[in-house]
Amino acid sequence: MVIVSGMRPTGKLHLGHYFGVIKNWLNLQNTDECFFFVADWHALTNKYKDTKDLKDNIYDLVIDWISSGIDPSKSTIFVQSAVKEHAELTLLLGMITPKSWLELNPSYKDLKFNLFFQYVRDFLLGKNIKVDEDKLRQIVYDTFYHKKDIDFEYLEKSLMDFSASDNISKEIVFNLKEGDIGKDIDTFGFFGYPVLMAADILIYKAQAVPVGEDQLPHIEITREIGRRFNHLYKPVFIEPKALLTESPKLLGTDGRKMSKSYGNTIALSDSEEEVNKKVLSMKTDTQRIKKSIPGRPEVCNVYTYHTYFTDKNTVEEIYQKCTTAQIGCIECKKILAENLNRFLTPIREKRRELEKDKEYLDKIIIQGNEKAREVAKKTMKEVKEAMGLMF
Ligand code: TRP
Ligand code: SF4
Repeated sequence: MVIVSGMRPTGKLHLGHYFGVIKNWLNLQNTDECFFFVADWHALTNKYKDTKDLKDNIYDLVIDWISSGIDPSKSTIFVQSAVKEHAELTLLLGMITPKSWLELNPSYKDLKFNLFFQYVRDFLLGKNIKVDEDKLRQIVYDTFYHKKDIDFEYLEKSLMDFSASDNISKEIVFNLKEGDIGKDIDTFGFFGYPVLMAADILIYKAQAVPVGEDQLPHIEITREIGRRFNHLYKPVFIEPKALLTESPKLLGTDGRKMSKSYGNTIALSDSEEEVNKKVLSMKTDTQRIKKSIPGRPEVCNVYTYHTYFTDKNTVEEIYQKCTTAQIGCIECKKILAENLNRFLTPIREKRRELEKDKEYLDKIIIQGNEKAREVAKKTMKEVKEAMGLMF
C-alpha cells in the first residue's frame, strides 16, 4: 500500500507522539511504501506570526523521526513546502470544495475552541490569578458551543468566579471581541487547512493514512474531496482510509492527555535527569498515602507506564507487591525511570549524532523531496488533464 502521513513542526516529539503515531509508522515502513513529511505549511496556518523557530523545528522533527527508527532507506522523508505541487493541487481542489464542508469540520471548531481557551487561561495566569483548568475549560466550552455565536455575556459573568473582579472579565471579553484571538486564525489559510491536507494525501494516491484520532475529520473531508473530483472529471484519486493505533493511550505525567500545553510531557529528547525528575513527580494511586496501604495499580498511571517500558515478569511482580503493600511508590518509580531511560537512551544517542551532521540531514531531505516530487508531478499531470488545463 501507499502510505502518507505528516506532522506539523511544532517542537520536539514526546512519548504521546511516539506511541500514538510513530510506532505505527515504524511498522508500516517495513511492509509498505511510505511517505512521511514535515507539514511546514500547515504549521503556518495558525502560527504565521512567529516563525523564528520554524527552521529549527523542521530539523528537530526529522531528527526525532530518524532517531526513533524511521529509516530513510525505507521511507521517503520530505518537507511539504519543497514540493510545490501540493500547493497547486490545493488551489485546484479549493475550486471544488464547498465552504460548508470546511465550516462544519469539527477539528476546525475544536482548534478555534482551544485557542480561545488558551487565550483566556493565559490572560488570567498573566494577572496572577489561579485557575482551575477543568472548570475554566467547561466555561469556555459553554461559551463557545452553547449558542450559534460565541456567548460573550455568559463568558463575562462566568469569569467573575475566577477573577473576582469585574474589570478583568470585562477586559478579557473586550480583547476577545476586538479580535485579539479570533482574527488570528480567521484567515483563508487556516480555513483551508483540510484542503491542503487533502492535497497532501491525494497527490500520492495514498491508500492509508496513519494519524491520531483528532485527524479523522480531516481524513473524511479528504475522501469527500477526492470522490467529488473523480465524479466531476475523471477517476484520478484513491479514497484513503485512516489507520489508527491500537494501543491504549499513554497519558501525561499528571494523568491527563499528554500535551505540551499541559506541561505533562516526556520528550524523546529529555535528558536522563529530566526523566528521573518527571517520573518521581508522577501521580500514583491517590488513596495510597503511605506505603503500608495496599495500592491499586489499575488506577495508577505509573503502573500503566510500567506496562509499556518494563518486562512482563517485573510488571507482574510490581502488581503483586503493590497490592500487598510490599513496594513503595518511590521504589516503583525508580524502577520505571530506569526502564524508561533504557528505552530513551538509543534515541537520545542517535539524536546527538544527527545534531552534529546537518549535512547528512540535508542530503536525506533533499533526496526525499525529489522522490516525492516525482510522484506528485505525475499525479498533477493527470489532474490537469482531467480538468482541461493545458500546460
Ligand atoms: N494535520 C496533521 C496534524 O496536525 C498533519 C498533516 C498535514 C497530515 N497533512 C497531512 C497528516 C497529511 C497526515 C496526512 O497532525
Ligand atoms: Fe502505582 Fe507503583 Fe505506587 Fe503501586 S507502587 S501505586 S503501581 S506507583
